[in-house]
Amino acid sequence: MSAPDFAQRRRQLCERVGAPVLLGNNGTRARNLPMNSVPFRADSSFLYFTGCAEPGAYALVVDGQCTLFLQPPEPGDELWHGEVESLESRRQRYGVHAVKALAELDAACEGLRGRLVSLAVPDLAVNQRLSGLTGKALAYTGSPGAEALVDAVMQLRRSRDAWEIDEMREAARVASLAHRAAMRATRAGGHEREIAALFDAVVASQGATTSYHSIVTVRGEILHNPDYKNPLREGDLLLLDGGAETPSGYASDVTRTWPVNGKFTSRQRDMYQLCLEANEHCIPMCTAGRRYADIHWAATRYLAAGLRDLGLLRGGVDGLVESGAAGVFFPHGVGHLIGLDVHDLENFGDRPAYAQGRSRPKQFGARFLRLDLDLPADVVVTIEPGIYFVPAILHDPALRAEFEGMVDFTAAEAWLGFGGIRVEDDVRVRGEGEAPEVLTADIPKSVADIEALVGTGPSARERLSP
Ligand code: GLY
Ligand code: MN
Repeated sequence: MSAPDFAQRRRQLCERVGAPVLLGNNGTRARNLPMNSVPFRADSSFLYFTGCAEPGAYALVVDGQCTLFLQPPEPGDELWHGEVESLESRRQRYGVHAVKALAELDAACEGLRGRLVSLAVPDLAVNQRLSGLTGKALAYTGSPGAEALVDAVMQLRRSRDAWEIDEMREAARVASLAHRAAMRATRAGGHEREIAALFDAVVASQGATTSYHSIVTVRGEILHNPDYKNPLREGDLLLLDGGAETPSGYASDVTRTWPVNGKFTSRQRDMYQLCLEANEHCIPMCTAGRRYADIHWAATRYLAAGLRDLGLLRGGVDGLVESGAAGVFFPHGVGHLIGLDVHDLENFGDRPAYAQGRSRPKQFGARFLRLDLDLPADVVVTIEPGIYFVPAILHDPALRAEFEGMVDFTAAEAWLGFGGIRVEDDVRVRGEGEAPEVLTADIPKSVADIEALVGTGPSARERLSP
C-alpha cells in the first residue's frame, strides 16, 4: 500500500465527516520503566489512515490535508535504537502535507476547538489528551468518538480492497504453516505449552506476530482457555485457535481440533464430523447480501439435528433452535468480522456489526453472536461452529430446568471430559453472485487430512529442545 493510497483513505474520511479530525496512536506501555516496555501495537484506525506505526504519533487531518505530529529524534536514539530518520524524510515516506514535532500539537489544535472530532484508542493517556484537545470525553469502550466519525471509520475499514485481501492471504499463509507444524509435532506425552511455543515460533519465524494469545488446549470446552497447563494424553482432543498478524497489522483467526495420538476414536470422529460439516455447510452461505444471523441459525440447526441423532437433544429442530436448547452445546456465535483486528471494529460496540434496527438474539448462546449485517461484498468474516461439553452449563440448575425434555442431561454427563471442538475459517465475501473465497482453505480439516498429518514430524519437544 503506497502513501497516495493512505491519502485517498483520508480524503474519503474527510468527505464523510465534514469536520477536522484528530487521530491518536497508542503510546508504548512501560513494563516497569519506560525503556522496558511491552510489545507495541499501533491503534488499528490510526494505522488504517496513516500507515504510520510510530508510538505516540498524532495525525491532524483538515480538509484532506494531513499533518503528522511525531516524536523528534532524541540524543542517544541512534546508540540505543539504531539509525534515526529525520522528520522531513518521514514526511516524504508517509506522503503527508507536513510532519511536526509532538510539542507543536496543542497549538495546532487550538484554533479548531469545538469543531475537532476524534476517536478513542486503547491507550488511556492518549485518550485523555484527545479528550482535552477536542473537548469531548472519549473512552475506548463506551464512548468511542463522534458518531459521524465512527460511522465513517467503520464503513471504510469494514470492506477490504485488493491490497488488504492480499495481506489477509499472507496472514492465512502464516497461520497455515504454524497449524501444520503444530499438527505434525503433536504426540501423547507432550504438553500444551510445547505446541503453543512451536506455533508461536513458526509465526515469529515468518516475520509475523500472533494476532491474539494462541489458544492451545485439551480443555477445548473453555472457549478462550488462556492457560497451557495440561499434558497431552492418549485419547485427548487438542483444540488450537491461533492466528497470525502481518507487519501491516492484518489478522488471521483459525481453529482446528485434532486427536493427540493422530487417530480419532469413533465418538470423537462422530462429533468432529458434525462440527466440520456445520462449518462446510455455512461457508458457501457467505455471499453478498446474505444476512449473517441466518448463517448462525443455519449452523445451529445443523448442529441441533446432528446432536439429536447422537442422542443429546430431543424434539424438533425448530424448537431446539428457537428455545436456545441447542446453545447448551454451541454457546457462542458462528463468527465475526476480521481485518486489522481479529474481532474487527468490536471496540465500536455492535454498531459496525449489527444493521440498524437489529440487536443481539435472546436465545442462550446466540446472545454472543457478534455480527448481523446483510453481508457487504469484500468483508472478511470467520465461520466457527463448535460443540462443547461445559460443566458449568451442564450443571447449571436454571438451564437444566429450562431445557429439561429438550436436552438429555444424563447422556450429556457421559461426555464430560471430552472437551470441545471448533472448526474455524476466514472467509472473504465476494461480489454479487460469486462464491466466497476461503482464505484459510489449505489448513487441513477433513478427518483423513488431519489423521494423515498429526504426529508425522519430530515432536514439539524435540523441535524446541536446545
Ligand atoms: N479466536 C478467538 C475468537 O474468535 O474469539
Ligand atoms: Mn474467531
